[in-house]
Amino acid sequence: MWPIDRPPKWVDRSRELATLHAGIEALRQGGGAAVWVEGEPGIGKSSLVVEALAGTSELGWDIGWGIADQLTERLPLSVMQDCLQVRLSSPDPRRAHAAGLLRSQRLGLFTNGDASASGVEVLMALTDELCAAAPTVMVIDDLQWADDASLLVWHQLAASIDQLRLLLIATCRSDPRRPEVQQVRASLARRGRALVTLGPLTEADVADLVTAMLGTPPEDTLRQLTAQAAGNPLYLRELVDSLARERAQASPIGGVSAAHEPAAGLAGCRAERPAQLRLG
Ligand SMILES: Nc1ncnc2c1ncn2[C@@H]1O[C@H](COP(=O)(O)OP(=O)(O)OP(=O)(O)O)[C@@H](O)[C@H]1O
Ligand SMILES: [Mg+2]
Repeated sequence: MWPIDRPPKWVDRSRELATLHAGIEALRQGGGAAVWVEGEPGIGKSSLVVEALAGTSELGWDIGWGIADQLTERLPLSVMQDCLQVRLSSPDPRRAHAAGLLRSQRLGLFTNGDASASGVEVLMALTDELCAAAPTVMVIDDLQWADDASLLVWHQLAASIDQLRLLLIATCRSDPRRPEVQQVRASLARRGRALVTLGPLTEADVADLVTAMLGTPPEDTLRQLTAQAAGNPLYLRELVDSLARERAQASPIGGVSAAHEPAAGLAGCRAERPAQLRLG
């Protein structure tokens, strides 16, 4: 269901989760909400959204998740089509119909602005239809790479969010942002919509996460080491995993189990080879 796995141990982010939960509650009550989640790479933007939405998969809501990337940035409406699952082969006639309309405009989409504008209208109309039929959640992940037409759809939906039964979410890396993305963000801020900025995990959160990975709280040497991750959960996980791999390579007898259980491997490393850890 979700494009990324939930971490085995989730730490905190309660304030940020509360903002997303408020959006979920608004949708539950039949209203709309737009939430923008930003922060540096690996800080936990996508994971936060997955964590917040985890309880919604049983509700029968229409949930879509599109991931933008640098390659599709040049393909008009690509990430929005992904998010809305607009495909000719879709079993949902509304989606298949929209895909047919877009295909008939495709030549225009690649050559002039008018056709692109009608593509935007097709997806706006489809979203209207979906929201009228069921509470709808749309996540555009890594919006900083969304093509301009998809950005325009996101912007238009955010502007009319009060009329839609829609929870509209974007995750976006903080810097550098291209001007079009900055405009969408600025317009959201002007309207007083929810902007969630993820900062580094606190020292206590880092200790919690390392404890969960190791099965035992980190002592001072390890705390100093994990401080290198500067509260970034992705770097923290990579750091702890690489220390565990180091342990697995250095100890062939325990290597097999350590490679499969990095936490256990590193815990052993802490007990047996503190000097090596300090060098790591
Ligand atoms: N609060 C958290 N508790 C535990 N693990 C977390 C937490 N937040 C993020 N992580 C872990 O950190 C890693 C990076 O998270 P994620 O992919 O969500 O970052 P991101 O900000 O979306 O990165 P990118 O900008 O590259 O898309 C993942 O392995 C995730 O499981
Ligand atoms: Mg992400």
